[in-house]
Amino acid sequence: MLSVNNVSVQFGKRILFDDVNLKFVKGNCYGVIGANGAGKSTFLKVLSGEIESTRGNLEITPG
Ligand SMILES: Nc1ncnc2c1ncn2[C@@H]1O[C@H](COP(=O)(O)OP(=O)(O)O)[C@@H](O)[C@H]1O
Ligand SMILES: [Mg+2]
Repeated sequence: MLSVNNVSVQFGKRILFDDVNLKFVKGNCYGVIGANGAGKSTFLKVLSGEIESTRGNLEITPG
């Protein structure tokens, strides 16, 4: 399981998303939708560890 806790990303003064909380559960399939520039790729980069969120944290269950 991948748990997203109170995650926010901000570039300068621009808040891209704020206080995101959700759980990705094994066996489920997820999609990310949103307008161009909404922050989809940035969110995935946070999930993969490519970039750090401004606030909040991720919890990843071993395995
Ligand atoms: N490293 C960065 N520094 C500043 N702004 C960024 C950076 N990365 C992305 N952005 C901006 O954040 C917004 C969301 O980008 P992105 O996550 O690529 O959107 P999407 O994938 O939903 O189209 C865009 O306005 C983009 O220009
Ligand atoms: Mg993108």
